[in-house]
Amino acid sequence: MNINATLAASLDRQETPSPSDWETTFRQMMLFDLAADMELGFFLSYYRNFAIPSIAKTLHTNAEIQQRAMKRSYDTAIVIYELIACGLDSDRGRPMVELLNRVHRNVPGSKDDFLYVLLTLLVVPIRWIQQHAWRQPTKAELVAASRFFTELGTRMNITCVPATYEEAEAFFDNYETTHVAASPEGRHLMDATVQVFQDRLPAPLRPVAKQMISTMLDDDRLTHALGLPRAGRISRTALTTGLKLRNAITRRRPLKTKPHFTPGDAGSSLYPDGYSLNQIGPVNVPHSPAHAGNELP
Ligand code: HEM
Repeated sequence: MNINATLAASLDRQETPSPSDWETTFRQMMLFDLAADMELGFFLSYYRNFAIPSIAKTLHTNAEIQQRAMKRSYDTAIVIYELIACGLDSDRGRPMVELLNRVHRNVPGSKDDFLYVLLTLLVVPIRWIQQHAWRQPTKAELVAASRFFTELGTRMNITCVPATYEEAEAFFDNYETTHVAASPEGRHLMDATVQVFQDRLPAPLRPVAKQMISTMLDDDRLTHALGLPRAGRISRTALTTGLKLRNAITRRRPLKTKPHFTPGDAGSSLYPDGYSLNQIGPVNVPHSPAHAGNELP
């Protein structure tokens, strides 16, 4: 592959890092080498939860997404990016883990539900990269990404996280085979969230936002469950052609020197002057006594 020298140098480092540097390897992948595609993959992970009726019901009942779709969506991304950029046990990472444990304390859900949501953050972006990014993830990046989510799971008291990326994929596929289904709550959440994606698009593309999401998800069962229009051949071809063109340009450009995410920075219209960590988190936090299946503290 003929690529810019700075991309090649980074790829070289990402192929043979020290295994103990998994956090740095994952950070480099997320914030530099494959940043744009990893972010898109996170968006797609978020929608997937709405196709699981029990999870959709819980989210719908708490109503944070319907009431503050943009804040919920951006804050979720911020929590994950803070953990990646600063480190799980860093001064900024620890409050994010505390936030996760606090908001989920009374969330009803089985161990598998929690494992599934955790693994959507791993499997969905990686699959997107494997299909659409300017390069494949390296083996070391797969190991580093898997390790990151295992470590995050451990800090959320989620046990039995699959040890390898391949095992994570197997769990993810089995869970979806038995759980994906349409529900009024899931479709309602999807409708409430589409606008967040729409706002990030150039104006002429906004009317086709649902079609675009459906094409990117590329899974008829899932898109049906979410109430999205079926992706047609034309939109599939437009997506792959557009991404091929983008990849050709990316390969010729130098690696960006500014990270894709800077902790506390103004990254969106939601926090135009930047944010402090105590602004992050849902307003509605479930308070009812936990369901028997919820093992989080
Ligand atoms: C380890 C897996 C999970 C991760 C990493 C995760 C991530 C998050 C994050 C980052 C927030 C805070 C959002 C914000 O700041 O506004 C949040 C809130 C929430 N999560 Fe999760 N979540 C997980 C599993 C689940 C599951 C399985 C359910 C449902 C069964 C669930 C239901 C909720 C609810 C009800 C809230 C409160 C805000 C709302 O109603 O949307 N989460 N989650």
